[in-house]
Order: sequence, then structure tokens, then C-alpha cells
Amino acid sequence: MSKVIFITGASSGIGKAIGDFLTINRFKVYGTSRNSSNYLNSKFELLDLDVKNLESINLCVDKIIKIEGKIDVLINNAGVGITGPLEEIPEKEIENNFKTNLFGPINVMKCVLPKMRSKNQGLIINITSVAAYVGTPYRSIYSAAKSALDLVSETLNMETKPFNIKVVTIAPGDFATNIASRRYHAPNEEKSAYFSGYSKALRLMNEHVDSGSDPLLIAKLIFKIIKTKNPNKKYTVGSFLERMAPYLKLLLPQKLFEYIVMKSY
Ligand SMILES: NC(=O)c1ccc[n+]([C@@H]2O[C@H](COP(=O)([O-])OP(=O)(O)OC[C@H]3O[C@@H](n4cnc5c(N)ncnc54)[C@H](OP(=O)(O)O)[C@@H]3O)[C@@H](O)[C@H]2O)c1
Repeated sequence: MSKVIFITGASSGIGKAIGDFLTINRFKVYGTSRNSSNYLNSKFELLDLDVKNLESINLCVDKIIKIEGKIDVLINNAGVGITGPLEEIPEKEIENNFKTNLFGPINVMKCVLPKMRSKNQGLIINITSVAAYVGTPYRSIYSAAKSALDLVSETLNMETKPFNIKVVTIAPGDFATNIASRRYHAPNEEKSAYFSGYSKALRLMNEHVDSGSDPLLIAKLIFKIIKTKNPNKKYTVGSFLERMAPYLKLLLPQKLFEYIVMKSY
């Protein structure tokens, strides 16, 4: 019997690449979108799910359990970007980002965990970001939500050991997806005190995503993790520099590391 994989946010970008690759490799994949009927050509089944809506999470998980009787692997991938000077990001947008990037994945895990415990096995892969480890200007909220998800995963992995459930994070660097065009941008107005710095950083952030790595890299890493008996707890994926950045932050003097980050942005 093939493993049942549940991927949130699989209509585009990284989630779609993972779903396509795992389907080709004979896994039974259920992906999700907030509007699954917009993606009729998907290679795998797409179900409706909004991670901000508890009822839709429950309905979606119940549907998979009814058909398959189990979920072997949960990939919490759905997420959205947010940029802006902290001072100028409206509270509503901060809440929205935390609801999508942190509370959403937590609620999906809370719903799937009892199903995995009943089988005494499971693998949860949470997609975080290199931004969870390295703060860069104008990405405070995104970094904060992803960093919190990283620590939730680290903790949960210890809590679920007795039930043979592993919790792994993958922290991608920049990957060429739709994330930049869909993210919330705090309005960049000339009257703002942050105008010049934010303009430059925003241009660079967008360029980095456009010239980012191929999401297939993450799909292949996930395939490897699923096949591994004892996976690592944390993976970073992306360019050499992106993979090294969290280590450089630990190794270099704090002021030097901050200087390098500020120089780059
Ligand atoms: N691309 C990068 O450079 C990068 C770097 C680090 C981390 N990441 C992370 O990778 C993950 C995937 O991002 P991506 O780059 O592939 O972006 P993307 O192409 O914009 O895909 C985002 C996916 O999330 C889904 N989604 C958004 N809001 C949702 C909600 N409220 N409920 C359920 N699904 C929702 C979208 O589905 P629908 O719109 O169809 O609902 C879509 O399938 C995110 O967690 C992101 O933070 C990306």
C-alpha cells in the first residue's frame, strides 16, 4: 500500500512541485487549495482547505481518512509572505500572517496528530524558511512566524517520540514561485521615513525570489526524507550561501554578521 501524503497549499510553487514529484513516484497525494476547482489539471487530487478556517481543516482531514484510513505524511506548506517596516505594517496584516503561517499549520497538526497516533506512526514536515534563522530588514513578521513554527516543530518532535511520529522542518532559501506577487507589501510611500531603505530591500527581495532555486529541489529532498528511516530534525535548502547563513550567524561576531546583512540589503 502506497504512503498517503497530505500537502497543504499544493496549487502552486513549492507545494505543487512536491505533489507532482511524489505522485510520479507513486505516492498517494492529497493536496489542498482554497479554491481547488480553479486547478482542474492537477496531477493529484486537490481538496479545498483554508488553514485559517478550523472547519475546513477538519472536513479535509476527515475526507482523506474516510477514503484512505490514514495519513502517513503531513507537509505543512501553505504560507504567505509579508514585507514592510514593522512600524508601518497594519495589525490586521500581522494577524493574518500569523494565522496563515503559524496558527494554521498548528491547527492542521492538531487535527492530524490523533490519526497518526492511532497508527503509531507518522511524519510531519513543516516548511519554514531560512528567514526563521536569519532576520533581514523589512521581513520581521515573516521571520517571527516561521521562527515560531520552527520551535513548535522542535518541541513537538520530542512530545511525539513515544508515538513514533517524527517532526521535521525544511527551511528554504529563495525559490522561484508566486510568493512575491502574492505577499502583503506594506505600502511604500515617499513620505515614509523608511522609503529609501524599504524600496531597495523590496526590489532585492523580489529579484532574489525571481532568480531563486527550482522548487523541484525541495520535492527531491522531501522524497529522500520520506524514504529515510531516521531523518534529521532540520534541513535548509537553497543556494550555498543560503544554507550557510544560519551557521555564519552563529560563528561570526554579531556586529560583523549584522554589518554583512545590512550591506547586502
Ligand atoms: N518561495 C520562496 O522563496 C520561499 C522561501 C522560504 C519559504 N517558503 C515557504 O514555502 C511555502 C510555499 O510557498 P511558495 O513559495 O510555493 O508560494 P506560492 O506559490 O504562493 O504558494 C503558496 C501556497 O499556499 C496556499 N495558501 C496560501 N494561503 C493559504 C491559506 N490561508 N490556506 C490554505 N492554503 C493557502 C496557496 O494556495 P491557494 O492560493 O490555492 O489557496 C498556494 O498553494 C510557504 O510556506 C512559504 O512561506 C517559500
